[in-house]
Amino acid sequence: MSGKTLKIASIPGDGTGPEVTAEAMKVLAAVAKLDNIAYEVEPLDWGGDRYLKTGEIIPDGGLDLLRAKDAIFLGAIGHPDVAPGILEKGLLLDLRFKLDQYINLRPVKLLPGVETPLAGRGPADIDFVVVRENTEDLYCGVGGYLKKGTPDEVAVQQAVYTRKGCERCIRWAFEYTQKRNSPKKMLTLVAKTNVLTYGHDLWWRTFQEVAKDYPDVKTDYNHVDACCMWMVKNPDFYDVIVTTNMFGDIITDLGGILQGGMGVAAGGNLNPDAGGVSMFEPMGGSAPKYTGQNVINPIAAINAMAMLLEHSGYPAAGKRIDAAVAQVTGTKMKSQAAGKMGYGTKEVGDLVVAVLS
Ligand code: IPM
Ligand code: MN
Repeated sequence: MSGKTLKIASIPGDGTGPEVTAEAMKVLAAVAKLDNIAYEVEPLDWGGDRYLKTGEIIPDGGLDLLRAKDAIFLGAIGHPDVAPGILEKGLLLDLRFKLDQYINLRPVKLLPGVETPLAGRGPADIDFVVVRENTEDLYCGVGGYLKKGTPDEVAVQQAVYTRKGCERCIRWAFEYTQKRNSPKKMLTLVAKTNVLTYGHDLWWRTFQEVAKDYPDVKTDYNHVDACCMWMVKNPDFYDVIVTTNMFGDIITDLGGILQGGMGVAAGGNLNPDAGGVSMFEPMGGSAPKYTGQNVINPIAAINAMAMLLEHSGYPAAGKRIDAAVAQVTGTKMKSQAAGKMGYGTKEVGDLVVAVLS
């Protein structure tokens, strides 16, 4: 390989995060041997337990530590003793924003042997990718209260859209669609231009303008509500979807269940700019009730590791993992649901390692 060392920061996080991270790391070790990848992993104990002990979420100097890495692996965050929103905002969203990971890439791919709730559909029908803008919209935390706690209370939560923010995301999505080069080669903008007549008008105009630079990519537009119908009725219609942060959050949970649920769905928070550091995570939460029981599905975390390698300059290693995972879901696992896999968490990791080739 290139002679360089792939430097990874690992944040296993809360609940079952450490268990699924361990399996992803096991697969990384095995594929690194096959592909001759030199790598080092720095484990970080950030998450709910540390916060409860120290009151700190991202410790001093933490961001600079991450900026010096090539990639970040995040297991899961969310702790039963920490109020909702604190760790989500203080860790996950903070990292996305401060590291300017402006693309949230979420493949929706039904693997062989994996059950989808859509009757009569198989892997040939469900294979598309959602490119979710990851730094703007309702997620900015812009807003406030007036007369809080009184009967006259007013709460304002504003969606922020910038030309720069939507253009860089839309442009990346066009490039990605071009590279993906599927027979459809189609990018669908998903928004709500009939109601969000300022913010989504900006997205619409920007989409039209940027499209001119990619004449080989077909373009399409869906309102987000219609998209939810079409994703269920005709998932085979889609190739790549580009959408805003909030809508992307919602439709990727729908996509997640189409591909077999949170046991398999993974995503990448990408800062594709030179020197940018990207973060890869299974999409599911920390599932605290399953902690320490060796029942949680590690496939999503292993898929996230494949994405990490693919986007860090090791696409062949990523593909090797993809192929091994497809073999394990297709020929070994009974289900993708926690506790119903026919194997334990560690055994699923071992199965993937055993068929890596
Ligand atoms: C996701 C999650 C997060 C989000 C939460 C945990 C803040 O749902 O990654 O999709 O809303 O982005
Ligand atoms: Mn979500």
